[in-house]
Amino acid sequence: MEVPFAKPTLTGDEGAAVAAVIASGWVSQGPKVQEFERRFAERVGAAEAIAVSNCTTALSLALYAAGVGPGDEVIVPSLSFIATANSVWTLGATPVFADIDPLTYNLDVAAAERAITSKTKAIMPVHQVGLPADMDAFFALADAHGLTIVEDAACAIGAHYKGRPIGSLGPSACFSLHPRKVITTGEGGMITTQDVELAARMRKLRQHAMDLSDLQRHGAKGVIFEGYPERGFNYRMTDMQAALGLCQLDALDGILAERARLAERYNAAFAAVPFLETPYEPEYAQRTWQSYCVRVAPGAPVERTELMQLLLDDGVPTRRGVMAIHHEGAYPGVTADLTHTEAAAAEVLMLPLFADLTDAQQDHVIERVVSHCAALAA
Ligand SMILES: Cc1ncc(COP(=O)(O)O)c(C=O)c1O
Repeated sequence: MEVPFAKPTLTGDEGAAVAAVIASGWVSQGPKVQEFERRFAERVGAAEAIAVSNCTTALSLALYAAGVGPGDEVIVPSLSFIATANSVWTLGATPVFADIDPLTYNLDVAAAERAITSKTKAIMPVHQVGLPADMDAFFALADAHGLTIVEDAACAIGAHYKGRPIGSLGPSACFSLHPRKVITTGEGGMITTQDVELAARMRKLRQHAMDLSDLQRHGAKGVIFEGYPERGFNYRMTDMQAALGLCQLDALDGILAERARLAERYNAAFAAVPFLETPYEPEYAQRTWQSYCVRVAPGAPVERTELMQLLLDDGVPTRRGVMAIHHEGAYPGVTADLTHTEAAAAEVLMLPLFADLTDAQQDHVIERVVSHCAALAA
């Protein structure tokens, strides 16, 4: 049986929605982006949502608007997709890597505190694979040191921290709408904030800091010219992407419920497998299950990568767990203590998980994992 590793969940309504935008003639950032922003903000309990081209530009824009620039340092986990660090680098600032909590795989608050220097401007906790970081602790740390928090919520639409939706908590949270995420617009990103003034500035900065939107110019009854009081970026989303995103928001609850059901099936099936650790569930968090990770415990009779190959030979594709950015040639010479990051990068793998995964496909994955582990343990 062939089992895909991941697939976006598209309901079939998207084609007509995108075609309607094309027929309207307004294909770049316009009324659909505005509607998508309103619905997204409502969904996560934020005052404002600002649509952008992807989550990397979202993170970069949120940092820029918070005043991060050349010479500044931003504390990030190394255990994250490389975009987390690259979003800092694009501003001429330096990503400073701190270790993770070994259970949640999220940035560790004490490690982040140890990484603070006189150059630190911001901390960027990542809600890794959709599991919220311990945000109250990060807000307290940021307050104590006069720092900004920008949340990398790439995988976290629909996640909750102590009952509150991710996207409603802090100064800014940045979401990804890439097809590997819970919902998608092909490519796309969203910044949410409770700060209406900050939102207005980010909305300008995403289109060259133009002081009038295209919607305002098209609706004007008199002749008006836009101005450019500062320098900005082109991080616009298209109305076609926004139309797709609106369909995806309609499907979000169903997608989250199905991902959670499938994750529970994995948890139950692997509970008794001797050296396989299932995901840790902190009480404070409701996660999105953007990915399902298992850990091959230290001392196991098989290495993580060997198990991945055995499964691939049986038609079960897996992926390594979240990468360690400091292992890459792009970020050499990192000397920080990243003990837990190193271990997680070596021992974790991801199993197929997406809302359209059938029970039969999942049963095949489970059967292959359990049977390999039993044979190896014998
Ligand atoms: C944790 C994290 N941050 C940022 C990104 C970047 O998202 P995008 O591809 O939308 O730029 C990703 C995407 O994989 C991610 O997983």
